[in-house]
Amino acid sequence: MLPPILQGLRIPVVGSPMFIVSGPELVIAQCKAGIVGSFPALNAREKDGDPILLEAWLTRITEELDRYNQANPDRPAAPFAVNQIVHRSNGRLERDIEICHRHKVPIWITSLGARVEVNEAAHDCGGIALHDVINNVFAKKAIEKGADGLIAVAAGAGGHAGPQSPFALLQEIRDWFNGPLLLSGAIATGRAVLAAQVMGADLAYIGSPFIATDEANAQPDYKRMIAESGAMDIVTSSLFTGVSGNYLAPSIRNAGMDPDALDHADAETMSFSEGAKKPKAWSTIWGAGQGIGAIRETVPAATYVNRLADEYRAAKAGVVGLEAARAG
Ligand SMILES: Cc1cc2nc3c(=O)[nH]c(=O)nc-3n(C[C@H](O)[C@H](O)[C@H](O)COP(=O)(O)O)c2cc1C
Repeated sequence: MLPPILQGLRIPVVGSPMFIVSGPELVIAQCKAGIVGSFPALNAREKDGDPILLEAWLTRITEELDRYNQANPDRPAAPFAVNQIVHRSNGRLERDIEICHRHKVPIWITSLGARVEVNEAAHDCGGIALHDVINNVFAKKAIEKGADGLIAVAAGAGGHAGPQSPFALLQEIRDWFNGPLLLSGAIATGRAVLAAQVMGADLAYIGSPFIATDEANAQPDYKRMIAESGAMDIVTSSLFTGVSGNYLAPSIRNAGMDPDALDHADAETMSFSEGAKKPKAWSTIWGAGQGIGAIRETVPAATYVNRLADEYRAAKAGVVGLEAARAG
């Protein structure tokens, strides 16, 4: 059984958190369209001496969704989620946990490390914690440490993708885990959302397609590149963060590098500290998963969610029709 907070979505989809790309505009649009919207807490970066931006974002999201719900009691917005990067280099983690706890964030998504105290903070304010994993060993550890649900990040996902086939990953996790399970990686159509459920997931976790939406915090060229690219344009490299991730090859070429001859980098170089130095060219290296062949234009997030909902309904009807034809 899904926890109540994940029930009643228009379609079983979570808009996944994306570094730089996901902010309040996208989250609010996703939630109003009926899917869970999310953002990484680290995206809310204020300048020294300015008021804490994470506070402002949470207040804005909560108030705007409350107003929307009062005006649309028959079709309320979906809940939102905040992503915490639980990596030792994230010097803001404790502060951000305290802020999210005080704002009673309903869904907590943790990545790059499972920690008991983060899950406890989520539970203490009435929320749930979902942890993203790339294999079954990490999945077991996350549940041992108190996560309520898992996000299986399979091959082809944007950001720090895993190496495993979604079939292999889901079947190993579902073998022992009956709780909330999300599938991440190259899901971009309503048909793929249904496929994820058939494979054993409860919900689909979709990132890259939302880069090409009006509300995403991404340069127009990045949005255009998503709309013009397909799976063959995605390369996997550890060079840019120290951990294997998927990137748009044309953006690597534009930065003067050969996407087919990239060096490797060590996981030790990964840093989420505020002052982490990165070569300037890397700000124009753009991440994306392999599913973007389904994205042809930049549209409002609600338009894309409507498309997913229509495709999801049609795919379900198609499966029922197939069964009926076989039975008849
Ligand atoms: C540009 C980009 C940035 C991302 N940043 C984060 C992040 O900050 N935290 C996180 O947990 N996942 C991050 N991800 C991973 C996504 O949350 C999600 O797992 C992935 O996008 C799903 O695959 P898809 O892009 O093929 O839909 C990022 C993905 C992309 C494409």
